[in-house]
Amino acid sequence: MPYVTRYLDDSITVNAPAKLNLFLHITGRRPNGYHELESLFAFTKQGDKIHIKQSDLPGFRVEGLFAKHLKGLDPKENLVLKAATILAEYAARPLDVTICLEKNLPVASGIGGGSADAAATLLALDAFWGLDCNKNFLESLALQLGADVPACLYNVPLYVTGIGECMAPADLPKQYGVVLINPGVALSTPAVFKAYRAQAKQFDAPMGRVLPKDSFRFIEFLKAKTHNSLLAASKTLCPEIVAVLSLLKQDKQALYVQMSGSGATCFALYNTQKEADSAARRIRALMPSWWVMADTLSL
Ligand code: C5P
Repeated sequence: MPYVTRYLDDSITVNAPAKLNLFLHITGRRPNGYHELESLFAFTKQGDKIHIKQSDLPGFRVEGLFAKHLKGLDPKENLVLKAATILAEYAARPLDVTICLEKNLPVASGIGGGSADAAATLLALDAFWGLDCNKNFLESLALQLGADVPACLYNVPLYVTGIGECMAPADLPKQYGVVLINPGVALSTPAVFKAYRAQAKQFDAPMGRVLPKDSFRFIEFLKAKTHNSLLAASKTLCPEIVAVLSLLKQDKQALYVQMSGSGATCFALYNTQKEADSAARRIRALMPSWWVMADTLSL
């Protein structure tokens, strides 16, 4: 579970780190239109943050680098408010808190920012109100908010199937460094899935949970046996992805390069955070307009 920090004034902060799909295969489609996936989720350490404190009047504000990108959003569509509302309804209590979303991750970028924020809100309010909801119940609320939200309750590597609701622990061989790049183009997930349906000829065959334990073999497995099924569709909507992937692949120290989710954020894995830090510095110098983050994947 993500780290919940409680301060002396009883306010609470919960981290909402970025989600990466180390691979993402599409194995089918449900009658309700949702796609069945087989994916390996991993999480960074840094990301957005949710801060909650007591207040007579309910309040919501957004701070941080990407706050302005949420300005035009209808509050009813905001996943943080939706999460807070459904938990308050369940607990039959007024929404007597101020919620601050620290938006440090780019929006509509394939790294689950909105899903992570919603999951962190559920966990923060559960702790703040002392509800002590059980995991299955929180997962069912999370799934109502979005397919990726249940996994974001955990923030540890997960082998994910169904539309995102079937999760099994997945061990990564080591703590990889990672560089994330977003070229500054927001991509709508439904639009990417629509483009995928127009292009794709067949679904991927399920592989099963077969993850090598040794790092060399794990990376070889990712390279040889996995892909992101949405990549071709995302590239047609955002051609900048080609340049991002190509720059990441030029780095000899990068172990594995892929696009996350429906894009446009792409990432590279490194043996250490130190290698990731220096790669991020080089990339920022070359492409100052891109968002570049270096971090470590959680184990
Ligand atoms: O569940 P979430 O709101 O994140 O999904 C956004 C959209 O992405 C859905 O409305 C659907 O079009 C598409 N989607 C999908 N299959 C998934 C996840 C998302 O088709 N497993």
